Amino acid sequence: MIKKKKLYYPSSDFKKNAWVKSKETYKKAKKDPVKFWEGLAKEVYWRKKWKKAFEHKPPFFKWFLGGKLNFSENCLDKNIETKKNKVALIWEPEPSDERPRYFTYYDLYRKVNKLANGLKKMGVKKGDRVGIYLPMIPEAVIAMLACTRIGAVHSVVFSAYSPQALQVRLQDTEEKILITADGYYRGGKIIDLKKNADEGVKDTKVKKLVVVKRAGNKVNMKKGRDVWWDDTISKEDDFCKPEVMDSEDPLFVLYTSGSTGKPKGIVHTCGGYTTQAKFTGKWIFDIKENDIFWSMSDIGWITGHTYSVYSPLLNGTTCIIFEGAPNWPVPDRWCQIIEKYAVNIFYTAPTAIRMFQKYGDDLVKKHDLSSLKVLGSVGEPIDKGSWLWYFEKVGNKKCPIVDTWWQTETGGILLSSLPGVGPIKPTFAGLPFPGIKFDILNNNGKSCKSGEKGDLVILPPFSPGLLRGVYKNTKRYKKTYWSEYGDEVYFTSDIAHKDKNGLIRIVGRSDDMIKVAGHRISTGEMEDTVSKIPSILECAVIGIPDEIKGEVPAVFEVLKGNWKKIEDLVVVEIKKGIGPIALPKKIYVVNDLPKTRSGKIMRRILRKIFTNEDLGDLSTLANPESVEELKKTLK
Ligand code: PRX
Repeated sequence: MIKKKKLYYPSSDFKKNAWVKSKETYKKAKKDPVKFWEGLAKEVYWRKKWKKAFEHKPPFFKWFLGGKLNFSENCLDKNIETKKNKVALIWEPEPSDERPRYFTYYDLYRKVNKLANGLKKMGVKKGDRVGIYLPMIPEAVIAMLACTRIGAVHSVVFSAYSPQALQVRLQDTEEKILITADGYYRGGKIIDLKKNADEGVKDTKVKKLVVVKRAGNKVNMKKGRDVWWDDTISKEDDFCKPEVMDSEDPLFVLYTSGSTGKPKGIVHTCGGYTTQAKFTGKWIFDIKENDIFWSMSDIGWITGHTYSVYSPLLNGTTCIIFEGAPNWPVPDRWCQIIEKYAVNIFYTAPTAIRMFQKYGDDLVKKHDLSSLKVLGSVGEPIDKGSWLWYFEKVGNKKCPIVDTWWQTETGGILLSSLPGVGPIKPTFAGLPFPGIKFDILNNNGKSCKSGEKGDLVILPPFSPGLLRGVYKNTKRYKKTYWSEYGDEVYFTSDIAHKDKNGLIRIVGRSDDMIKVAGHRISTGEMEDTVSKIPSILECAVIGIPDEIKGEVPAVFEVLKGNWKKIEDLVVVEIKKGIGPIALPKKIYVVNDLPKTRSGKIMRRILRKIFTNEDLGDLSTLANPESVEELKKTLK
């Protein structure tokens, strides 16, 4: 990478081989975004070409109308035509002494077809929903693809979600079949997944459980209801005719949390999602056929769908899925994996980067990470310190960092500078993907000037992969996404600003905003400011009730080592970065912050501990012990 002032540009070597190397692509896309996406869609395999590319009846829209295709055919059949024996999927189990499993495209194809036939035999038809409650094992990928083969709509539920969380989702989507496993490894222990599944299917319409034998733990198989995965597929034929789907037929549902308690089932459709997943991956990570792609995200999240699995397969490359935690049993397990498989593209979240950083540089230095070519970041804003560490220590100053902004709702990355074009600016996600029109609007609904913060919105024609609905809840779809600025403007709920070059920086969620004496203050922005203090490793800011000002910020911070007078530093930094209005009422130095297993800090829990509210279900936390400690600190 070449640094010019504060911006980074690709080296001439990188640029030479990149899929996209000039601003020309942006210009063309801007001129006619619909035509541009049509051009990309032509590289997807369609059974029948679309008649009309885009239709907009606000707040509804469609892409590639009349087009017919099958998703699994694009991931598998198309690849086995030319690279039958190429490795499609590598599975790294958590126990380091267990052997990895390798699947060629042909292996994967046969397994998917067999399961597809097995599911059909159980009565699954096009349009039926199938629940998938599986850990990071190859069968999860096989199950997802098998559903897409027969036109069933998969709904993956994160395997670390509690039975109650599973039940709520199953009740909403009314699955008759749930695919699960006996157990899996996490932190050296076997997690009894089947027990959770048994509890979760109570009071739902689930009639059959297909159970993968993974951990060999003892499970109760209910007669007439539960069947082993192996028995489901063993006698099945290894070809299943792919169901020809309409471009706008649903492909999958994935639940995500919203500002109200009940999760929303986000609906994605076949044609648009496929096109977008293929090309955002190809261009943003500059995926080449022989690349080894490792996205750390669990398939329970949208990143796990689109980039841990689907985009690499649509692009005919090799992906790795990993069962365990990246710091188990040794803190540099993630480095071991990169080295072992000579990973070229590595995609993770800033929280993980900060955790890796906490363990110190020596661990990274021990490993040969020279295979890396592109590094990705996702899910939350990345602070400059972590960005630089990732760039210098992991990527050895040669790998572009793609800071990718997107949401469960967008289905794929819509904002990230392209590595072969740049510019890349630390803490800025960068430029909109070609063909995507973003705007940043102020309180009056007008476009913000550069530097001015406002609501990040997406304008027509949006993107082919943007959600088409909230499952069985049109009211919520309209209210959440299409009401803030009218029904022709997609409201992201994120606050952002733009620099003079048009690079966009995400400040944080508008629903994590706090109002201090009537002024809007972003907790994300405060965290960013506080994180600039070198001794602070991680921090979270929440709004706490205040008699006079309504709400005031409280700062929680995890330090690198022992520091004195940290409170004073925080006050100075906030005054400097935002102004006295944002000064925190409380500053707490803590050892750990409650986080989900995907690494997001649970500010909601911090807030509840503060206000002494019922904490609800803590089973999704990676570190529930942090809660007890916080309770003591806040007493
Ligand atoms: O606030 C943005 C943040 O994550 C939100 C979407 O969360 P979710 O649907 O769980 O999807 C996460 C993975 C795609 C966004 O509204 N977010 C996502 N990516 C970034 C980000 N914030 C800052 N920078 C990013 N690169």
